[in-house]
Amino acid sequence: MDIIFYHPSFKAEKWINGLQQRLNARVRVWQPGDEAHADYALVRQPPLEMLQGRSELKGVFALGAGVDDILSQLRQHPTMLAENVPLFRLEDTGMGRQMQEYAVWHVLGWFRRFNEYQQLKTEARWQHLTNNSREAFSIGILGAGVLGSSVAESLRFWGFPVRCWSRSPKDLLGVTSFHGADQLDAFLSGSKVLINLLPNTPQTEGILNRQLLSKLQPEAYLINLARGAHLVEEDLLAAIEAGEVKGAALDVFVEEPLKRDHPFWAHPAIAITPHNAAVTLPDEAMDYLAHAIQQREAGEMPAGRVDLSRGY
Ligand code: NAP
Ligand code: GLV
Repeated sequence: MDIIFYHPSFKAEKWINGLQQRLNARVRVWQPGDEAHADYALVRQPPLEMLQGRSELKGVFALGAGVDDILSQLRQHPTMLAENVPLFRLEDTGMGRQMQEYAVWHVLGWFRRFNEYQQLKTEARWQHLTNNSREAFSIGILGAGVLGSSVAESLRFWGFPVRCWSRSPKDLLGVTSFHGADQLDAFLSGSKVLINLLPNTPQTEGILNRQLLSKLQPEAYLINLARGAHLVEEDLLAAIEAGEVKGAALDVFVEEPLKRDHPFWAHPAIAITPHNAAVTLPDEAMDYLAHAIQQREAGEMPAGRVDLSRGY
């Protein structure tokens, strides 16, 4: 079995060795001009010529949870993936817990006003701030898929009221479900902290805009864990300026790396991380990949198949 591998930043050696230990396969890094046979492709931001015309592939596996990099290319070049070739993505493989850590850290920080106490500390001020009410600190999660539902579970554990919004209705323990465009406003109006875990699709691009942010509870908070393309960045600045949004934690940006002169860096209400809220964990990912490839070899359809028509 032959596997081709392409990732713009991962150290290929670890992946080649790890996959060869798990599978009876030859794994090679794909290089421009490599047209030799391959059974599977493991990719992130793949060059067009890596996949185009390869109808022999039994599967293309994205090395992350989001597949917007691949699907945006596919929209421009519909022949990039042969029709018979299924596309898979990583479902959780250790990312759910990382997203929980990120969300819980910020929600507790805002809820307990730890950030404000740190500011008071810089002024050597011994002062008690009024406690927030837990019942009023409701969490709204955009996207209730693998990662959104995981984050919902962790915040529910801390006793916050949790609601989610998705395309289809959900039945998650202790979480109020909203779905579809008709229920978006009702979802937003009851959300104090908005956490975005939607996939980046033509339907969700720019969804975090001024209009949407103005529908949240007063002095709301935003955590964007999904994609930079979801947020209209100048709208967030305007919403903070207008007092509609009190704080934001952003992991993803329209342009990455974030430019040094971007106004977000110096903004006191905005926390920033460099797109690593949940990284691909090689061992967990390779365990999934090895299992999924074995399933494909046995004629089964593994978990994580992307629905190309839905775009996620
Ligand atoms: P997922 O399992 O596919 O879940 C996506 C959720 O979004 C589903 O609940 C889906 O609704 C909902 N959704 C999609 N389009 C919608 C629409 N138009 N209206 C309403 N709801 C919609 O995805 P996931 O594994 O949770 O990952 C989510 C995203 O996180 C990824 O796409 C990726 O961009 C991002 N991510 C970021 C990082 C990071 O480090 N920052 C790491 C990993 C992933 P249904 O359930 O009804 O289909
Ligand atoms: C990271 O952003 C991913 O989609 O896995």
